[in-house]
Amino acid sequence: MIAAMDILITKAERSKLKELDLNDLPFGKYFSDHMLEADFQNGKWQNIEIKPYQPLLLSPSLAALHYGQAIFEGIKAYKDPKGNAYIFRPYDNFHRFNISAERMKMPSVPEDLFIEGMRQLIALDKDWIPTKQDHSLYIRPFMFSSDEIIGVRPSDTYKFLIILSPTGPYYGAPMRIYVEEKYVRAAPGGVGFAKAAGNYGGAMLASAEAKKKGYDQVLWMDAIEHKYVQEIGTMNVFFIIGNSAITPNLDQGTILEGVTRSSSMVLLKEMGFKIEERPLSIEEIMEAYKSGTLREVFGTGTAATISMIRELRYKDYVMKFEVEKWKTAPLLKEWLADIREGRREDKYGWMWKI
Ligand code: COI
Repeated sequence: MIAAMDILITKAERSKLKELDLNDLPFGKYFSDHMLEADFQNGKWQNIEIKPYQPLLLSPSLAALHYGQAIFEGIKAYKDPKGNAYIFRPYDNFHRFNISAERMKMPSVPEDLFIEGMRQLIALDKDWIPTKQDHSLYIRPFMFSSDEIIGVRPSDTYKFLIILSPTGPYYGAPMRIYVEEKYVRAAPGGVGFAKAAGNYGGAMLASAEAKKKGYDQVLWMDAIEHKYVQEIGTMNVFFIIGNSAITPNLDQGTILEGVTRSSSMVLLKEMGFKIEERPLSIEEIMEAYKSGTLREVFGTGTAATISMIRELRYKDYVMKFEVEKWKTAPLLKEWLADIREGRREDKYGWMWKI
């Protein structure tokens, strides 16, 4: 166990908080006063410190910069109307972090370091949690290999950090999505299920090309048949067809197991939908659109929360939706926000009090 005394805490001399308007925040641009940093050396985690947010001094030969042995998580902290601070489902992200670590041949991070370190960091920077609706403190734990060697092999040393960013909504308006045919994100046996940094770097060309065509993001297809939908940019995807809420199944290892995805399945079930985790082809989606049974399409993610899709384009076929008339995605978004922001009872044990 890491007791409080095992984390060395150095407080910032002055807070930057007064310089910031917590009511007007882009995603991921501002960072709180402190960060957590730890080193994996000689087979154990050490030098665990919470200290003022500051640059790192890194060697140009740092292994992570060359071969991408780097993973991360995204978690959010909220305040309830009484001012109590909570983290949303931190253990789910902690478990996923170590699944990513294993896949990338990195050491696991113990619960005491990840969860207790995060708790102490947020307790110190609690005032950075915005209280405006749909705003939160985004928590970014990450780890990278830190050996100074350009030989291709797993590092012996690693750095683990947690930084905090007060943030507003990731995607403001309902989105236009381009169904990607040329590039693939992940193949069976690959690293698609891991939150590996390179998964995001590898997706940037496709999303930039989609943006040039006037779309906000891409919907990835499977790597083998280019037939089954996978996930959207930074989100999992749901299709409401008839009375079913359908989301692609995870067993090929090509899709990130989203925490908001799993929370959404619980709430959609409570709303009365049949939950289907299964392969879903673009043909089936187009057929449902033509027959009028495709009711709603939306993305789910920690950063993105619930993001409605107002247009989906596959080749030359364009599916347009009247999102103003939708009931499910707006209700799901509001329901989740109410639980997170403490306006509705948390029956599920998702909110973890700091
Ligand atoms: C998240 O939703 O937390 C993500 O990690 C997506 C993105 C901001 C990289």
